[in-house]
Amino acid sequence: MSDGRSRIAPPASERGLFSRRSGFERRLNPLTRARAARRASGAPLLDLTVSNPTRAGLPYDGAAICEALADPAALVYRPTPFGRPEARAAAAETMGCSPARCVLTASTSEAYGWLFKLLCDPGDEVLAPRPSYPLFDQLAALEGVRLRPYPLRYDGAWHIDLAAVAAAVGPRTRAILVVSPNNPTGQVLRASELAGLARLGLPIIADEVFAPYRLRPVPDAARALDAPGLVFALGGLSKFAGLPQMKAGWIAVGGPPKPAEAALARLEIIADTWLSVGAPVQHALPALLRTQQATADGIRRRVRRNMAFVQAACRGSATTVLPADGGWYAVLRAPRVLGPVGWLDDEAWALTLLESDGLYVQPGFFYDFEQDGHLVVSLLTPPADFEDGVRRLVARVDRVCAA
Ligand SMILES: Cc1ncc(COP(=O)(O)O)c(C=O)c1O
Repeated sequence: MSDGRSRIAPPASERGLFSRRSGFERRLNPLTRARAARRASGAPLLDLTVSNPTRAGLPYDGAAICEALADPAALVYRPTPFGRPEARAAAAETMGCSPARCVLTASTSEAYGWLFKLLCDPGDEVLAPRPSYPLFDQLAALEGVRLRPYPLRYDGAWHIDLAAVAAAVGPRTRAILVVSPNNPTGQVLRASELAGLARLGLPIIADEVFAPYRLRPVPDAARALDAPGLVFALGGLSKFAGLPQMKAGWIAVGGPPKPAEAALARLEIIADTWLSVGAPVQHALPALLRTQQATADGIRRRVRRNMAFVQAACRGSATTVLPADGGWYAVLRAPRVLGPVGWLDDEAWALTLLESDGLYVQPGFFYDFEQDGHLVVSLLTPPADFEDGVRRLVARVDRVCAA
């Protein structure tokens, strides 16, 4: 997980030499600096933000992975812009679409780059939910695209403020981005929300990388590909099989034949320019999706267990867990109270937890929460660490509030 980078005016020595779009803030924020200092000092650190599945003690069938990657057919280079038919068919099955409508990419992040190139000219806008995944700003900026946020509102459950989305549409808006389940709120897109977005008549980019991970039943959940207009639904090995290092993602193109076929024809040129998905992973994809279901099951068990633990641990305490429909994250809310050096906002809470308890959690501002006091923890964290860390977090918040 990145903590996002804002764009900055370049230092004088770089002015005129580089593009504006690559001018990101390179200094670490105070929390990341404090964490690095703690690591360097050798002081204990309990990381409650573990989101790299390959380092979370999950079950992987290593032999099956290595066998899948050893197909000698990958020794011959056969460039295919959308990917090998067998790999496309396997990816399409996960999205419930026809293989002809499925395009392989090297990652979901790359899929964003291709879709922004397909839909936007430099200076165009894409509407994106707030709060959500911090890397979107960077992915858009690097394509010369502006992200215009629309709010997710919380009133006991998260939902899209459809009136605010409609108000955010401007003359240069080219698409609406939805993330379902959202990272980090865990909100799943509802059928009524999808219908409301579809009425705006813009292409929808639906990030469904966390779709296999539901934390509770959502009877009126929407599948973005069911929208009547042009939709690009994203999935990938990174989350579906817990294999981000394999670098394979996909775009499922939904919508009426005419615009969908035109989109595919243009995407084919974009994909043919990069040809970025490696042959070994393309050959391995069907087997990886099949054999690593045990890993996905392990992730489901882990995130549900950790969510149940944090909900129980916060009951009767000053810390609240916001309800989530799915995904790998829990959003906690700590009260805004007066600490030793002023009001505790979410950054101050995260710094306090780091310095006093050796706990690393993400402050809500990394994700652009509208209100203060949110802390984000990863439900992928190994349970022993998660339980120890959550107990310490809850105790610290209660102690500060009682003081
Ligand atoms: C919502 C969301 N979309 C996309 C990605 C990136 O996925 P990939 O590894 O396929 O680029 C992430 C990574 O955490 C994510 O949280």
